[in-house]
Amino acid sequence: MYDNVNEKNADIPKEEIERQRAFISKIKDLNDEFEKKYSRKKTMFISTFGCQMNAHDSEKINGMLKAMGFADSDSEKNSDFVIYNTCCVRENAENKVYGNLGYLKHAKETNPFMKIALCGCMMQEDNVIETIRKKYRHVDIVFGTFNLYKLPELIYTNIETGNPVFDIWREHREIVEDLPSIRKYKFKSSVNIMFGCDNFCSYCIVPYVRGRERSRCSCDILNEIKGLAEDGVKEITLLGQNVNSYGKKLDENIDFAKLLRKVNEIDGIERIRFMTSHPKDLSPELILAMAECEKVCNHIHLPFQAGSDRILEKMNRKYTKEKYLKLVEDIRNAVPDISVTTDIIVGFPGETKEDVDETIDVIEKVRFNGAFTFIYSKRTGTPAAVMENQVPEKDVKEQFNRVLEKLNPIVFEKNKAHIGKVFKVLAEEVSGSGADFITGRLEDNSIVHFKSDKDVIGKIVDVEIVGSKTFYLIGERRI
Ligand code: SAH
Ligand code: SF4
Ligand code: F3S
Repeated sequence: MYDNVNEKNADIPKEEIERQRAFISKIKDLNDEFEKKYSRKKTMFISTFGCQMNAHDSEKINGMLKAMGFADSDSEKNSDFVIYNTCCVRENAENKVYGNLGYLKHAKETNPFMKIALCGCMMQEDNVIETIRKKYRHVDIVFGTFNLYKLPELIYTNIETGNPVFDIWREHREIVEDLPSIRKYKFKSSVNIMFGCDNFCSYCIVPYVRGRERSRCSCDILNEIKGLAEDGVKEITLLGQNVNSYGKKLDENIDFAKLLRKVNEIDGIERIRFMTSHPKDLSPELILAMAECEKVCNHIHLPFQAGSDRILEKMNRKYTKEKYLKLVEDIRNAVPDISVTTDIIVGFPGETKEDVDETIDVIEKVRFNGAFTFIYSKRTGTPAAVMENQVPEKDVKEQFNRVLEKLNPIVFEKNKAHIGKVFKVLAEEVSGSGADFITGRLEDNSIVHFKSDKDVIGKIVDVEIVGSKTFYLIGERRI
Protein backbone atom coordinates (compact mmCIF):
# COMPACT_ATOMS: atom_id res chain seq x y z
CA MET A 1 0.00 0.00 0.00
CA TYR A 2 2.84 2.40 0.83
CA ASP A 3 6.41 2.72 -0.30
CA ASN A 4 8.94 1.00 1.94
CA VAL A 5 6.34 -0.71 4.06
CA ASN A 6 7.36 -3.72 6.06
CA GLU A 7 4.50 -5.76 7.39
CA LYS A 8 6.29 -8.83 8.70
CA ASN A 9 4.79 -9.56 12.07
CA ALA A 10 7.11 -12.23 13.31
CA ASP A 11 7.32 -11.43 17.02
CA ILE A 12 3.99 -9.97 17.91
CA PRO A 13 1.05 -12.10 19.03
CA LYS A 14 -1.33 -12.19 16.08
CA GLU A 15 -4.44 -11.15 18.04
CA GLU A 16 -2.70 -8.04 19.35
CA ILE A 17 -1.74 -6.94 15.85
CA GLU A 18 -5.31 -7.45 14.71
CA ARG A 19 -6.58 -5.38 17.64
CA GLN A 20 -4.29 -2.48 16.77
CA ARG A 21 -5.14 -2.74 13.09
CA ALA A 22 -8.80 -2.33 14.02
CA PHE A 23 -7.96 0.92 15.86
CA ILE A 24 -5.91 2.07 12.87
CA SER A 25 -8.87 1.60 10.57
CA LYS A 26 -11.29 3.38 12.95
CA ILE A 27 -8.95 6.39 13.12
CA LYS A 28 -8.52 6.26 9.35
CA ASP A 29 -12.31 6.58 8.96
CA LEU A 30 -12.34 9.60 11.26
CA ASN A 31 -9.46 11.18 9.36
CA ASP A 32 -11.24 10.55 6.03
CA GLU A 33 -14.32 12.32 7.39
CA PHE A 34 -12.11 15.21 8.48
CA GLU A 35 -10.65 15.43 4.98
CA LYS A 36 -14.13 15.57 3.40
CA LYS A 37 -15.25 18.28 5.77
CA TYR A 38 -12.18 20.55 5.67
CA SER A 39 -10.79 19.64 2.21
CA ARG A 40 -7.40 18.83 3.65
CA LYS A 41 -5.72 15.85 5.24
CA LYS A 42 -4.78 15.83 8.90
CA THR A 43 -1.04 16.36 9.19
CA MET A 44 1.63 14.95 11.47
CA PHE A 45 5.15 15.72 12.60
CA ILE A 46 7.52 13.23 14.25
CA SER A 47 10.51 14.61 16.14
CA THR A 48 13.15 12.03 17.06
CA PHE A 49 15.86 12.44 19.68
CA GLY A 50 18.64 10.03 20.66
CA CYS A 51 20.12 6.95 19.07
CA GLN A 52 19.40 4.65 16.15
CA MET A 53 17.03 2.61 18.33
CA ASN A 54 14.78 5.63 18.55
CA ALA A 55 15.23 6.45 14.87
CA HIS A 56 14.10 2.92 14.06
CA ASP A 57 11.14 3.15 16.45
CA SER A 58 10.13 6.38 14.71
CA GLU A 59 9.90 4.48 11.42
CA LYS A 60 7.34 2.25 13.12
CA ILE A 61 5.44 5.30 14.42
CA ASN A 62 5.52 6.78 10.92
CA GLY A 63 4.14 3.55 9.45
CA MET A 64 1.25 3.46 11.91
CA LEU A 65 0.35 7.15 11.49
CA LYS A 66 0.44 6.95 7.68
CA ALA A 67 -1.85 3.91 7.82
CA MET A 68 -4.23 6.08 9.89
CA GLY A 69 -4.30 8.58 7.02
CA PHE A 70 -2.07 11.33 8.42
CA ALA A 71 0.02 13.25 5.88
CA ASP A 72 3.55 14.58 6.48
CA SER A 73 3.98 18.19 7.46
CA ASP A 74 7.23 20.10 7.44
CA SER A 75 6.15 22.48 10.14
CA GLU A 76 5.76 21.28 13.68
CA LYS A 77 3.59 24.16 14.83
CA ASN A 78 1.07 23.74 12.00
CA SER A 79 0.62 19.98 12.45
CA ASP A 80 -2.47 18.24 13.78
CA PHE A 81 -0.48 15.45 15.41
CA VAL A 82 2.93 16.11 16.91
CA ILE A 83 4.92 13.33 18.52
CA TYR A 84 8.27 13.54 20.29
CA ASN A 85 10.24 10.30 20.52
CA THR A 86 12.50 11.27 23.40
CA CYS A 87 15.98 10.40 24.74
CA CYS A 88 17.26 10.78 28.29
CA VAL A 89 20.86 9.63 27.96
CA ARG A 90 22.11 13.15 28.74
CA GLU A 91 20.41 16.09 30.38
CA ASN A 92 20.54 18.38 27.33
CA ALA A 93 18.44 15.90 25.32
CA GLU A 94 15.74 16.21 28.00
CA ASN A 95 15.95 19.99 28.17
CA LYS A 96 15.33 20.26 24.44
CA VAL A 97 12.09 18.32 24.79
CA TYR A 98 10.84 20.54 27.63
CA GLY A 99 11.82 23.64 25.64
CA ASN A 100 9.93 22.48 22.55
CA LEU A 101 6.89 21.52 24.60
CA GLY A 102 6.69 25.04 26.03
CA TYR A 103 6.71 26.44 22.51
CA LEU A 104 4.04 23.98 21.33
CA LYS A 105 1.65 25.22 24.01
CA HIS A 106 1.13 28.45 22.07
CA ALA A 107 0.85 26.62 18.75
CA LYS A 108 -1.84 24.40 20.22
CA GLU A 109 -3.88 27.42 21.28
CA THR A 110 -4.13 28.49 17.64
CA ASN A 111 -4.87 25.02 16.22
CA PRO A 112 -7.86 23.39 17.94
CA PHE A 113 -7.17 20.03 16.24
CA MET A 114 -3.62 19.66 17.48
CA LYS A 115 -2.78 16.57 19.53
CA ILE A 116 0.59 16.20 21.26
CA ALA A 117 2.10 12.80 22.07
CA LEU A 118 5.30 11.91 23.91
CA CYS A 119 7.09 8.58 23.90
CA GLY A 120 10.55 7.04 24.17
CA CYS A 121 13.12 6.73 26.90
CA MET A 122 12.36 9.88 28.91
CA MET A 123 8.85 8.61 29.54
CA GLN A 124 10.23 5.67 31.54
CA GLU A 125 11.44 8.09 34.24
CA ASP A 126 9.00 8.76 37.11
CA ASN A 127 10.14 12.35 37.62
CA VAL A 128 9.46 13.13 33.95
CA ILE A 129 5.92 11.79 34.12
CA GLU A 130 5.29 13.85 37.25
CA THR A 131 6.61 17.00 35.57
CA ILE A 132 4.44 16.44 32.50
CA ARG A 133 1.32 15.87 34.57
CA LYS A 134 1.97 19.04 36.55
CA LYS A 135 3.52 21.49 34.13
CA TYR A 136 2.67 20.35 30.62
CA ARG A 137 -1.05 19.74 30.75
CA HIS A 138 -1.42 20.37 27.03
CA VAL A 139 0.10 16.92 26.32
CA ASP A 140 -2.55 14.41 25.15
CA ILE A 141 -0.83 11.01 24.93
CA VAL A 142 2.16 9.57 26.81
CA PHE A 143 3.65 6.10 26.43
CA GLY A 144 7.06 4.50 26.92
CA THR A 145 9.57 2.20 25.28
CA PHE A 146 7.77 -1.09 25.92
CA ASN A 147 4.37 -0.41 24.34
CA LEU A 148 5.04 1.52 21.15
CA TYR A 149 2.78 -0.87 19.25
CA LYS A 150 -0.22 0.40 21.25
CA LEU A 151 -0.12 3.87 19.69
CA PRO A 152 -3.32 3.32 17.61
CA GLU A 153 -5.30 2.26 20.67
CA LEU A 154 -3.97 5.17 22.75
CA ILE A 155 -4.87 7.72 20.07
CA TYR A 156 -8.34 6.24 19.77
CA THR A 157 -8.89 6.26 23.54
CA ASN A 158 -7.85 9.92 23.66
CA ILE A 159 -10.30 10.81 20.87
CA GLU A 160 -13.14 8.90 22.55
CA THR A 161 -12.65 10.17 26.09
CA GLY A 162 -11.19 13.60 25.38
CA ASN A 163 -8.87 13.00 28.34
CA PRO A 164 -5.08 12.74 28.40
CA VAL A 165 -3.92 9.11 28.12
CA PHE A 166 -0.85 7.92 30.04
CA ASP A 167 0.27 4.32 29.50
CA ILE A 168 3.72 3.47 30.85
CA TRP A 169 4.92 -0.08 31.43
CA ARG A 170 7.70 -0.95 33.87
CA GLU A 171 9.08 -3.84 31.83
CA HIS A 172 8.55 -5.48 28.48
CA ARG A 173 5.95 -8.24 28.16
CA GLU A 174 6.57 -10.12 24.95
CA ILE A 175 8.80 -8.83 22.17
CA VAL A 176 6.22 -6.78 20.37
CA GLU A 177 6.93 -4.97 17.15
CA ASP A 178 6.44 -4.70 13.45
CA LEU A 179 3.17 -3.10 12.78
CA PRO A 180 3.41 -1.26 9.46
CA SER A 181 6.74 0.51 9.42
CA ILE A 182 7.98 3.01 6.83
CA ARG A 183 11.69 3.10 6.19
CA LYS A 184 13.32 6.50 5.86
CA TYR A 185 15.45 5.12 3.03
CA LYS A 186 14.24 2.59 0.47
CA PHE A 187 17.68 1.03 0.06
CA LYS A 188 18.89 0.73 3.64
CA SER A 189 17.33 -0.31 6.91
CA SER A 190 18.04 -0.98 10.55
CA VAL A 191 16.97 -4.27 12.08
CA ASN A 192 16.63 -4.76 15.83
CA ILE A 193 18.41 -7.92 16.89
CA MET A 194 18.00 -7.32 20.60
CA PHE A 195 16.39 -4.91 23.01
CA GLY A 196 17.41 -3.53 26.39
CA CYS A 197 20.74 -3.72 28.20
CA ASP A 198 22.06 -5.63 31.21
CA ASN A 199 25.43 -3.95 31.55
CA PHE A 200 24.60 -1.17 33.99
CA CYS A 201 27.57 1.04 33.22
CA SER A 202 27.42 3.23 36.31
CA TYR A 203 26.79 6.52 34.45
CA CYS A 204 24.13 5.19 32.07
CA ILE A 205 20.36 5.32 32.29
CA VAL A 206 19.62 3.09 29.30
CA PRO A 207 19.22 -0.18 31.29
CA TYR A 208 16.59 1.52 33.47
CA VAL A 209 14.53 2.87 30.57
CA ARG A 210 14.95 0.09 27.99
CA GLY A 211 14.70 -2.86 30.37
CA ARG A 212 16.51 -6.18 30.51
CA GLU A 213 18.42 -7.52 27.56
CA ARG A 214 16.44 -9.81 25.26
CA SER A 215 17.39 -11.14 21.85
CA ARG A 216 15.03 -11.86 18.98
CA CYS A 217 15.25 -15.39 17.67
CA SER A 218 17.51 -15.65 14.64
CA CYS A 219 14.79 -16.99 12.32
CA ASP A 220 12.69 -13.86 12.85
CA ILE A 221 15.68 -11.61 12.20
CA LEU A 222 16.72 -13.51 9.08
CA ASN A 223 13.18 -13.58 7.71
CA GLU A 224 12.85 -9.87 8.25
CA ILE A 225 16.13 -9.23 6.42
CA LYS A 226 15.14 -11.53 3.55
CA GLY A 227 11.90 -9.56 3.23
CA LEU A 228 13.81 -6.28 3.23
CA ALA A 229 16.23 -7.58 0.58
CA GLU A 230 13.28 -8.57 -1.63
CA ASP A 231 11.99 -5.05 -1.15
CA GLY A 232 15.20 -3.46 -2.48
CA VAL A 233 17.26 -3.00 0.66
CA LYS A 234 21.02 -3.26 0.08
CA GLU A 235 22.41 -2.18 3.42
CA ILE A 236 21.39 -3.52 6.81
CA THR A 237 22.40 -2.19 10.24
CA LEU A 238 21.92 -4.73 13.02
CA LEU A 239 20.90 -2.83 16.13
CA GLY A 240 21.38 -3.53 19.83
CA GLN A 241 22.88 -1.74 22.84
CA ASN A 242 25.48 -4.48 22.97
CA VAL A 243 25.27 -6.66 19.86
CA ASN A 244 28.22 -8.74 21.06
CA SER A 245 26.09 -10.39 23.71
CA TYR A 246 23.41 -11.32 21.15
CA GLY A 247 21.85 -14.73 21.77
CA LYS A 248 23.16 -15.27 25.29
CA LYS A 249 19.71 -15.84 26.73
CA LEU A 250 18.24 -17.72 23.77
CA ASP A 251 17.74 -21.49 23.72
CA GLU A 252 19.10 -21.81 20.19
CA ASN A 253 22.79 -22.33 19.54
CA ILE A 254 23.59 -18.85 18.28
CA ASP A 255 25.85 -15.91 19.01
CA PHE A 256 26.56 -12.66 17.19
CA ALA A 257 29.37 -14.10 15.07
CA LYS A 258 27.09 -16.92 13.85
CA LEU A 259 24.28 -14.46 13.16
CA LEU A 260 26.59 -12.27 11.06
CA ARG A 261 27.58 -15.28 8.97
CA LYS A 262 23.92 -16.11 8.33
CA VAL A 263 23.04 -12.54 7.36
CA ASN A 264 26.04 -12.54 5.04
CA GLU A 265 24.41 -15.35 3.04
CA ILE A 266 21.23 -13.43 2.25
CA ASP A 267 20.95 -12.59 -1.47
CA GLY A 268 20.47 -8.95 -2.31
CA ILE A 269 22.09 -7.60 0.84
CA GLU A 270 25.38 -5.95 -0.10
CA ARG A 271 26.48 -4.22 3.08
CA ILE A 272 26.12 -5.25 6.71
CA ARG A 273 26.76 -2.88 9.62
CA PHE A 274 26.11 -3.23 13.34
CA MET A 275 25.78 -0.97 16.41
CA THR A 276 27.03 -1.06 19.16
CA SER A 277 29.87 -3.32 20.20
CA HIS A 278 30.85 -3.47 23.86
CA PRO A 279 34.59 -4.25 24.14
CA LYS A 280 34.07 -6.69 27.02
CA ASP A 281 32.03 -9.13 24.89
CA LEU A 282 33.86 -8.86 21.58
CA SER A 283 34.95 -12.43 20.81
CA PRO A 284 37.74 -13.80 18.58
CA GLU A 285 34.98 -15.59 16.63
CA LEU A 286 33.41 -12.23 15.83
CA ILE A 287 36.72 -10.81 14.60
CA LEU A 288 37.09 -13.85 12.35
CA ALA A 289 33.53 -13.50 11.06
CA MET A 290 34.15 -9.82 10.29
CA ALA A 291 37.26 -10.73 8.36
CA GLU A 292 35.63 -13.59 6.44
CA CYS A 293 32.19 -12.17 5.63
CA GLU A 294 32.66 -10.06 2.53
CA LYS A 295 29.47 -8.07 3.07
CA VAL A 296 30.35 -6.96 6.60
CA CYS A 297 31.63 -3.38 6.31
CA ASN A 298 35.15 -2.46 7.33
CA HIS A 299 34.00 -0.31 10.22
CA ILE A 300 33.57 -0.93 13.92
CA HIS A 301 32.14 1.45 16.50
CA LEU A 302 33.85 0.43 19.72
CA PRO A 303 33.22 2.84 22.59
CA PHE A 304 36.06 2.98 25.13
CA GLN A 305 34.60 5.85 27.26
CA ALA A 306 37.76 6.49 29.30
CA GLY A 307 41.43 5.53 29.29
CA SER A 308 42.10 5.34 33.02
CA ASP A 309 41.70 1.87 34.54
CA ARG A 310 40.56 3.43 37.79
CA ILE A 311 37.76 5.30 36.02
CA LEU A 312 36.88 2.32 33.81
CA GLU A 313 36.39 0.27 36.94
CA LYS A 314 34.18 2.90 38.54
CA MET A 315 32.24 3.04 35.27
CA ASN A 316 31.69 -0.73 35.54
CA ARG A 317 32.96 -1.25 31.99
CA LYS A 318 34.75 -4.54 32.80
CA TYR A 319 37.87 -4.03 30.66
CA THR A 320 41.17 -2.23 31.09
CA LYS A 321 42.96 0.22 28.84
CA GLU A 322 45.46 -2.48 27.93
CA LYS A 323 42.72 -4.94 27.03
CA TYR A 324 41.01 -2.34 24.84
CA LEU A 325 44.24 -1.52 22.99
CA LYS A 326 44.93 -5.24 22.44
CA LEU A 327 41.42 -5.72 21.08
CA VAL A 328 41.89 -2.91 18.54
CA GLU A 329 45.20 -4.44 17.54
CA ASP A 330 43.59 -7.87 17.02
CA ILE A 331 40.79 -6.35 14.94
CA ARG A 332 43.25 -4.41 12.79
CA ASN A 333 45.38 -7.48 12.26
CA ALA A 334 42.35 -9.38 10.98
CA VAL A 335 40.82 -6.51 8.96
CA PRO A 336 43.73 -4.19 8.08
CA ASP A 337 41.77 -1.34 6.47
CA ILE A 338 39.08 -1.23 9.18
CA SER A 339 37.86 2.12 10.41
CA VAL A 340 37.56 2.32 14.20
CA THR A 341 35.26 4.89 15.81
CA THR A 342 34.42 5.35 19.46
CA ASP A 343 32.55 7.16 22.25
CA ILE A 344 34.37 9.09 24.97
CA ILE A 345 33.03 10.56 28.20
CA VAL A 346 34.91 13.37 29.93
CA GLY A 347 34.22 14.45 33.50
CA PHE A 348 33.04 11.22 35.14
CA PRO A 349 33.00 11.68 38.97
CA GLY A 350 36.52 11.74 40.36
CA GLU A 351 38.22 11.98 36.95
CA THR A 352 41.47 13.95 37.27
CA LYS A 353 43.72 15.59 34.71
CA GLU A 354 45.97 12.53 34.96
CA ASP A 355 43.01 10.23 34.19
CA VAL A 356 42.24 12.33 31.10
CA ASP A 357 45.92 11.95 30.09
CA GLU A 358 45.16 8.22 29.85
CA THR A 359 42.16 8.92 27.60
CA ILE A 360 44.39 11.06 25.40
CA ASP A 361 46.95 8.27 25.34
CA VAL A 362 44.33 5.86 23.95
CA ILE A 363 43.38 8.45 21.30
CA GLU A 364 47.02 8.76 20.26
CA LYS A 365 47.66 5.03 20.23
CA VAL A 366 44.51 3.97 18.39
CA ARG A 367 44.25 6.99 16.08
CA PHE A 368 40.48 6.79 15.70
CA ASN A 369 38.71 7.52 12.43
CA GLY A 370 36.00 9.31 14.38
CA ALA A 371 34.62 9.74 17.89
CA PHE A 372 31.57 11.04 19.69
CA THR A 373 32.79 12.97 22.71
CA PHE A 374 30.44 13.64 25.59
CA ILE A 375 30.62 15.68 28.74
CA TYR A 376 29.49 13.47 31.62
CA SER A 377 25.86 14.14 32.47
CA LYS A 378 24.52 13.17 35.88
CA ARG A 379 21.50 10.87 35.52
CA THR A 380 19.32 10.50 38.60
CA GLY A 381 18.96 6.86 39.61
CA THR A 382 22.35 5.72 38.31
CA PRO A 383 25.17 4.78 40.73
CA ALA A 384 27.46 7.52 39.37
CA ALA A 385 24.94 10.23 40.25
CA VAL A 386 25.61 9.70 43.96
CA MET A 387 29.37 9.24 43.70
CA GLU A 388 31.57 11.72 45.49
CA ASN A 389 33.85 14.16 43.68
CA GLN A 390 31.50 15.24 40.89
CA VAL A 391 33.84 17.34 38.73
CA PRO A 392 33.07 21.09 38.52
CA GLU A 393 31.82 22.21 35.10
CA LYS A 394 34.71 24.59 34.45
CA ASP A 395 37.31 21.82 34.97
CA VAL A 396 35.38 19.40 32.77
CA LYS A 397 35.26 21.96 29.93
CA GLU A 398 39.01 22.38 30.15
CA GLN A 399 39.64 18.63 29.98
CA PHE A 400 37.04 18.20 27.25
CA ASN A 401 38.84 20.77 25.10
CA ARG A 402 42.14 18.97 25.67
CA VAL A 403 40.56 15.77 24.37
CA LEU A 404 39.14 17.50 21.28
CA GLU A 405 42.43 19.22 20.52
CA LYS A 406 44.10 15.83 20.39
CA LEU A 407 41.31 14.02 18.60
CA ASN A 408 40.30 16.37 15.77
CA PRO A 409 43.69 16.58 14.00
CA ILE A 410 43.90 12.76 14.06
CA VAL A 411 40.43 12.39 12.55
CA PHE A 412 41.38 14.99 9.94
CA GLU A 413 44.57 13.10 9.07
CA LYS A 414 42.67 9.82 8.81
CA ASN A 415 40.19 11.42 6.43
CA LYS A 416 42.97 12.94 4.35
CA ALA A 417 44.44 9.50 3.76
CA HIS A 418 41.43 8.74 1.51
CA ILE A 419 42.48 11.37 -1.04
CA GLY A 420 43.45 10.04 -4.46
CA LYS A 421 41.75 6.68 -4.01
CA VAL A 422 38.50 5.37 -5.52
CA PHE A 423 35.88 3.86 -3.19
CA LYS A 424 32.50 2.18 -3.53
CA VAL A 425 29.93 4.65 -2.22
CA LEU A 426 26.27 4.07 -1.40
CA ALA A 427 24.56 7.28 -2.56
CA GLU A 428 22.02 8.21 0.12
CA GLU A 429 20.43 11.63 -0.44
CA VAL A 430 20.71 15.10 -1.88
CA SER A 431 23.38 16.88 0.10
CA GLY A 432 22.52 19.78 2.39
CA SER A 433 25.47 21.66 0.92
CA GLY A 434 24.02 22.20 -2.55
CA ALA A 435 21.38 20.83 -4.88
CA ASP A 436 23.68 19.08 -7.36
CA PHE A 437 25.62 17.35 -4.62
CA ILE A 438 24.79 13.91 -3.30
CA THR A 439 25.77 12.57 0.11
CA GLY A 440 26.89 8.99 0.37
CA ARG A 441 28.85 6.63 2.56
CA LEU A 442 31.99 4.64 1.98
CA GLU A 443 32.06 1.10 3.26
CA ASP A 444 34.14 2.40 6.22
CA ASN A 445 31.21 4.72 7.11
CA SER A 446 32.99 7.94 6.06
CA ILE A 447 30.61 10.51 4.62
CA VAL A 448 31.33 11.89 1.14
CA HIS A 449 29.72 14.69 -0.86
CA PHE A 450 30.00 14.38 -4.65
CA LYS A 451 28.43 15.95 -7.71
CA SER A 452 25.81 13.76 -9.39
CA ASP A 453 22.20 13.49 -10.56
CA LYS A 454 19.56 12.42 -8.11
CA ASP A 455 18.97 9.14 -9.93
CA VAL A 456 22.17 7.80 -8.39
CA ILE A 457 20.46 7.66 -4.97
CA GLY A 458 20.23 4.09 -3.71
CA LYS A 459 23.04 2.85 -5.97
CA ILE A 460 26.57 1.84 -5.07
CA VAL A 461 28.93 3.80 -7.33
CA ASP A 462 32.66 4.50 -7.71
CA VAL A 463 33.80 7.82 -6.25
CA GLU A 464 37.32 9.20 -6.19
CA ILE A 465 38.15 11.21 -3.10
CA VAL A 466 39.58 14.60 -4.05
CA GLY A 467 39.37 16.54 -0.80
CA SER A 468 38.76 16.15 2.92
CA LYS A 469 37.52 18.05 5.96
CA THR A 470 37.44 16.88 9.59
CA PHE A 471 34.00 15.32 9.36
CA TYR A 472 33.49 14.53 5.67
CA LEU A 473 35.14 13.91 2.31
CA ILE A 474 34.69 15.53 -1.09
CA GLY A 475 34.59 13.23 -4.08
CA GLU A 476 34.14 12.95 -7.85
CA ARG A 477 32.21 10.18 -9.51
CA ARG A 478 34.18 7.79 -11.69
CA ILE A 479 32.29 5.77 -14.26
N1 SAH B 1 25.21 0.82 24.33
C1 SAH B 1 26.16 1.67 23.77
C2 SAH B 1 25.96 3.13 24.04
C3 SAH B 1 24.64 3.72 24.25
S1 SAH B 1 24.61 5.37 24.83
C4 SAH B 1 27.51 1.26 24.32
O1 SAH B 1 27.62 0.85 25.44
O2 SAH B 1 28.45 1.46 23.63
C5 SAH B 1 25.73 6.17 23.73
C6 SAH B 1 26.86 6.85 24.41
O3 SAH B 1 26.37 7.86 25.27
C7 SAH B 1 27.70 5.98 25.32
O4 SAH B 1 28.62 5.21 24.65
C8 SAH B 1 28.35 7.00 26.23
O5 SAH B 1 29.56 7.45 25.68
C9 SAH B 1 27.35 8.14 26.23
N2 SAH B 1 26.70 8.26 27.54
C10 SAH B 1 25.89 7.39 28.15
N3 SAH B 1 25.50 7.86 29.36
C11 SAH B 1 26.08 9.08 29.50
C12 SAH B 1 26.09 10.07 30.53
N4 SAH B 1 25.42 9.89 31.66
N5 SAH B 1 26.81 11.20 30.32
C13 SAH B 1 27.50 11.39 29.18
N6 SAH B 1 27.54 10.49 28.19
C14 SAH B 1 26.85 9.35 28.33
FE1 SF4 C 1 24.60 2.16 28.68
FE2 SF4 C 1 26.64 0.59 29.13
FE3 SF4 C 1 24.34 -0.46 28.32
FE4 SF4 C 1 25.80 0.96 26.66
S1 SF4 C 1 26.39 -0.99 27.58
S2 SF4 C 1 23.61 1.13 26.98
S3 SF4 C 1 26.69 2.54 27.96
S4 SF4 C 1 24.72 0.56 30.26
FE1 F3S D 1 18.69 7.85 24.25
FE2 F3S D 1 17.13 5.83 24.71
FE3 F3S D 1 18.88 5.69 22.77
S1 F3S D 1 18.11 7.08 26.25
S2 F3S D 1 20.53 7.00 23.47
S3 F3S D 1 17.18 7.07 22.86
S4 F3S D 1 18.19 4.01 24.07
